[in-house]
Amino acid sequence: MHDILPEDQPFFGKVYKEADEIAEFYGFQKIDTPVVEDAELFSRGIGLSTDIVEKEMFGLRTKGGDYLALRPEFTAGIARSYIEHGMFNMPQPLKLYSRGPLFRYEHPQAGRYRQFHQVDFEVFGEKSAVIDAQIIQIFYNFLKELKFKNLIIEVNSIGDSQCRPYYKKLLGNYLRSRENSLCADCRRRMRENPLRILDCKEEKCQPVKAQAPQIVDHLCEQCNAHFKSVLEFLDELELPYHLNPYLVRGLDYYTKTVFEIFEDTEEGRQSALAGGGRFDSLVKMLGGKDAPACGGAAGVERIIRAVKERAKTDQIIPAAEKKIFLAQLGELAKRKSLKLFEEFRKARISVAESFGRDSLKTQLRSADRLGSEYALILGQKEALDGTVIIRDMKTGHQETIKMEKVVNEMQKRLRK
Ligand code: HAM
Repeated sequence: MHDILPEDQPFFGKVYKEADEIAEFYGFQKIDTPVVEDAELFSRGIGLSTDIVEKEMFGLRTKGGDYLALRPEFTAGIARSYIEHGMFNMPQPLKLYSRGPLFRYEHPQAGRYRQFHQVDFEVFGEKSAVIDAQIIQIFYNFLKELKFKNLIIEVNSIGDSQCRPYYKKLLGNYLRSRENSLCADCRRRMRENPLRILDCKEEKCQPVKAQAPQIVDHLCEQCNAHFKSVLEFLDELELPYHLNPYLVRGLDYYTKTVFEIFEDTEEGRQSALAGGGRFDSLVKMLGGKDAPACGGAAGVERIIRAVKERAKTDQIIPAAEKKIFLAQLGELAKRKSLKLFEEFRKARISVAESFGRDSLKTQLRSADRLGSEYALILGQKEALDGTVIIRDMKTGHQETIKMEKVVNEMQKRLRK
């Protein structure tokens, strides 16, 4: 877990601002769910034998004996809220958007943290493949707005309760015949969650994966037609996608479409920036009505890491605008400056200051460093006369003006 220091805040601000704009454009309403939920919500929703629940959940026992968990993702909590507040009675599809901190007890490494942040979009109550394509489009656009260039979208369909059990059996039989060629982790996964083996990055498992039966060849008619539609919509939207038959995702609630988005850089392909898919049975499984759903989430820290790497060549974070610097000299001037500073706030003009400093030279140096266009100087004489000196920082030209006129005057100058 890490601190988000002041120098990183503009990056978070920028990512959240883009997310808010995308949410508004596509008609998503914001929702905030608690950071702590009943642990069972996640074990039922995400799946008991997934890494997230089995190894990565931060659990805690309350004094009353309840077993709670810090949320490792948004989807299950949002689905719980959708059920609890009868949101299926609202006009559907219902589009919900959330952003904030999540917790996974992972092995910390670059781009993988124990407290991290996501931007999450979910659509409830619509089974059409248009939504799957639109969710992918939304994450693609979001990353494009943040100036990501070589984005790769990977998609797959992992079927549903009609066709997946048969495929799992087929895959299980095949894997058993190759058990000795699998890594230790996959031998364990084989019994609990054979699909996850398709996701394994171990060298040893690659030849086994390459010859494994593929789920897209075993989809039922309905899943097949749905997947075909999704791909047609993606073609229509001209999104650059690849089919990845090994993409299964690490959460059990998915049905049909799954996707992940990566950036291809000179150093090769980085870890996923966003991922998601359709989850048609989650709401029912958690005790709600039958409500199809689809969504995804993007990792804020991973986005910021990539943005920072290219920040040297491509500035996307504008420096905070402080065109005016208020400098003061002497006790009376300091008091009057405090008041003047508030006048600027009322006029919504951003002004920098250094009230703690007494030397005028130091203050003007600060103004210079900040790139301020004007310094307003209030010395003992000006404080007594009720005037202010306006200094043009570029030319050094100075003029004196009545204090009550200065906010108006600066407003005019800034407009120019
Ligand atoms: P996820 O793939 O587990 O999906 O996470 C989505 C994104 O969150 C990842 O692509 C990654 O960018 C980021 N992320 C995940 N774990 C970490 C970590 N430990 N440190 C930093 N970033 C991380 C979900 O969470 C699903 N709930 C997405 C979804 C929404 N599916 C349907 N609706």
